[in-house]
Amino acid sequence: MTTIVKAKVVGNQAVRPEVFLLTLETPEIAAAARPGQFVMLKVAPGPDPLLARPFSVHGTDGGKLLILYQVRGKGTRLLAEAEPGLELTLWGPQGRGFDLGGAKRPILVAGGMGMAPLAFAAKVLEERAIPSLFLNGGANQESIRGLEDRLEAMLVAGIERGSVERLRSFFAAKTKAAETSFSGAPRIILGTSTEDGSFGHKGLVTDLLEESLSASQDLQPDLVLSCGPLPMLKAVARICAKQKVASQVSLEAPMACGVGACQGCVQPAAGGGYLRVCQEGPVLDAAQVDWERV
Ligand code: FES
Repeated sequence: MTTIVKAKVVGNQAVRPEVFLLTLETPEIAAAARPGQFVMLKVAPGPDPLLARPFSVHGTDGGKLLILYQVRGKGTRLLAEAEPGLELTLWGPQGRGFDLGGAKRPILVAGGMGMAPLAFAAKVLEERAIPSLFLNGGANQESIRGLEDRLEAMLVAGIERGSVERLRSFFAAKTKAAETSFSGAPRIILGTSTEDGSFGHKGLVTDLLEESLSASQDLQPDLVLSCGPLPMLKAVARICAKQKVASQVSLEAPMACGVGACQGCVQPAAGGGYLRVCQEGPVLDAAQVDWERV
C-alpha cells in the first residue's frame, strides 16, 4: 500500500563529493521498506520541481529511512541543500524489491551507486546469518570512495576484504565453519574492482563474478543480486544464464508517476511486451528482461 507522508529531514551529509546520505524521519515507510524498493520523493517543499523523483531505499534505522544519492542534476542539487528540520513529501515504499527468501549462498554485484540498495540487502542477509559475497566495482579508487564505508556502516560484523582466491573458496569455508562454529567469523566478504586498477582487482566487477562462479560446483553460489550501470547488468545476466545461476537485477528507468500509471518507465520483456519498472520492478528476474532490446 502506498503511503504519502511528510517527513522531517534528520540528516543530509556528504559521504564523498557529490554523494549524500539523506535521513528522513518516517516510521511508517521505514517499517515497510524492503531492499530493492524505492520511494518517490519531492526534493523541495515548493512547487519547483513539480514532480517527485524515485530514490532507492538504502536502509532503515528505527523509524528513519536512509537514502544514498548522487548529485546528478538540478533536483538532486536542490536536495543536497536540504537542512535538518525541513519537511519533504514522499510516498512509498514502491515496487518489487529483492527476493532474498531462498538464498543460501548469494553474491551481490554493485556498480557505482548500485551500492545504495545492495548495502541494505547485505544488512538483511547478515541479520539472517546468511554468508554472502559482495562484489563492488567502479572506474577508479575515487569513484568507490565513501560507498564501501556505507556498506561497512550498515553491517554489525563488518566486512572482510578478499582476494580472488578467497572469493573462490568463501562458501566452502563458510560451510565448514557452520558445521563447527560460526562465531566471530565475518559473514560478508568484499571484493573490489576498479577499471584503472587504482584499488582492488584491475578490471570489471563482472570479472570477479566470473571468478566467483567458476569455483567448485558443489558449492556454487545460488543467487546473484545486482544493481549498477546497464552494461554491467547485461553482463551479469549473461554470465548467470551461462552458469545457470538465478539472478535478480535492479533496473533504472525514468519515472514520472512511480505508481504504474504513465508507462514512462517501461522496459522490454523477454517473450514480447513490456514491463513497468515501477510496478513489476525495479527488481526483476534477469530472465524476464529482453536484454537485446533494453
Ligand atoms: Fe509511471 Fe512507471 S513511472 S508507469
